[in-house]
Amino acid sequence: MSRPAEPSITYNYDVVRQFTIATLIWGVIGMAMGVFIAAQLVWPTLSLDVPWLSFGRLRPIHTNLVIFAFGGGALFATSFYVVQRTSRVRLISDRLAQFVFWGWQLALVAIVITYLLGYTTSKEYAEMIWPIASWITLVWVAYAWLFFGTIARRTVKHIYVGNWFYGAFIIVTGMVHVINHMSIPVSLLKAYPVYAGATDAMIQWWYGHSVVGFILSVGFLGMMYYFVPKRAERPIYSYRLSIVHFWAIIALYIWAGPHHLHYTALPDWAQSLGMVMSLILLAPSWGGMINGMMTLSGAWHKLRTDPVLRFLVVALAFYGMSTFEGPMMAIKTVNALSHYTDWTIGHVHAGALGWVAMISIGTIYHMLPQLYGRKEMYSLGLINAHFWMATIGTVLYIVAMWVNGITQGLMWRAVNVDGTLTYSFVEALSASHPGYIVRLIGGSTFAAGMLLMVVNCWLTIRQSQSAPESVRAAQPAESAS
Ligand code: HEM
Ligand code: HEM
Repeated sequence: MSRPAEPSITYNYDVVRQFTIATLIWGVIGMAMGVFIAAQLVWPTLSLDVPWLSFGRLRPIHTNLVIFAFGGGALFATSFYVVQRTSRVRLISDRLAQFVFWGWQLALVAIVITYLLGYTTSKEYAEMIWPIASWITLVWVAYAWLFFGTIARRTVKHIYVGNWFYGAFIIVTGMVHVINHMSIPVSLLKAYPVYAGATDAMIQWWYGHSVVGFILSVGFLGMMYYFVPKRAERPIYSYRLSIVHFWAIIALYIWAGPHHLHYTALPDWAQSLGMVMSLILLAPSWGGMINGMMTLSGAWHKLRTDPVLRFLVVALAFYGMSTFEGPMMAIKTVNALSHYTDWTIGHVHAGALGWVAMISIGTIYHMLPQLYGRKEMYSLGLINAHFWMATIGTVLYIVAMWVNGITQGLMWRAVNVDGTLTYSFVEALSASHPGYIVRLIGGSTFAAGMLLMVVNCWLTIRQSQSAPESVRAAQPAESAS
């Protein structure tokens, strides 16, 4: 753990490499699972009457793997990379870093096995049973210790803004995870939540929206604040804006949860509060999007030749789009139409594929060669092909879901003059079928792009291993901050 004096700081890249590779592997598995359940919605008999192939069991495996294993893995990898480089110090403990990596993988494997067997809490994104939730708490505390401990030992005065975002993601995710999972165990596989009724629902969606807000938004903004300026080779457009929108996002996100519970038993004032806070959230969200986009001022021409930068910029565009759509869907009268329909699924994947996956993919394409002592990825052509597959796949997915969502919402609420429903549920379902086929095509295209990425990464790593020892041993080429 001794830290040589500058300029030869040896950072701990082992854990960054491990998490990067795990992100790729879990990403492929999680998205393949998404493709499979999308296919089940086209051909419902695809579960073949096998319980562990049923939609209900595979859906939470998809959501948990893409959020916690793929998205989470990308956040672990990049936060460890960024915190070391911007603090100019090695992670405070290599052993703890290994504990975080293997502890997290163990939790993910336990999640897959228990969900396949049908053991869940049935709370969305918090399906893990209490032993897994407790283990995750332990791993998370170790992660926080490692991250903040490294910041505390930094050799530069300044704490880079990306670390503020990563730090907020770590603190708030830990807090909501513990509070939402509070339960009284009655056996190894079963526990009862300490909350009941509307309170339970409120806590659950306070957690659920914080997963969206602090993992899928704030965490990835941390990633954006390091890798967009790096790739564009430009300073952040406005440091002041980054601080202002940071505090505004932190102050607002935590109040928006009730928009998931409009027209339920939740008190009306809480629903309205959630709606208003969601509307105001548009401003700080766009603060981040605009700051990222404007960082490219004077570097736009790079987009013509650099597909990695294109991934990062298109991700920001989708972030802007989904954070405009979200506040609109939080308006109660709009939600009366969109809730329960595929519009929500379209919104989710505009954020998940367009923002979360695209920014992670662009970042890994930038970071992986650095981790293996190379200047660039093996093939820019493959990255370019991946970029188009990801973009076309995302657009097909979300357009199909918008069409389906609005069709469903309008068909469900249509009434005849005598007050009876105009359409039966099955009629709305069969009207949705073409959309499910288009979603399957879009989703498969996106997932196939991930396979190109795996091949390209593998070839890059192999190339680095066949390079002379002096090149392999070299630390990454980019400057230290
Ligand atoms: C290849 C790409 C993907 C495909 C084909 C796919 C497909 C699906 C399908 C079919 C569902 C269930 C929809 C329903 O119940 O009607 C779903 C749900 C979901 N997916 Fe994906 N998905 C993909 C990638 C992702 C990624 C990368 C993320 C996150 C980073 C993600 C996050 C989610 C979430 C959060 C839900 C639950 C949405 C809700 O409950 O409202 N997906 N996905
Ligand atoms: C200003 C920002 C945002 C606001 C105000 C917002 C608002 C909303 C609203 C109103 C819903 C529908 C709730 C319902 O009818 O049940 C929703 C669902 C969802 N949003 Fe957003 N959204 C925002 C940004 C994002 C981003 C960037 C992502 C990233 C992936 C995201 C992921 C999700 C997910 C996963 C759900 C589905 C939750 C569920 O029912 O399982 N949102 N959001």
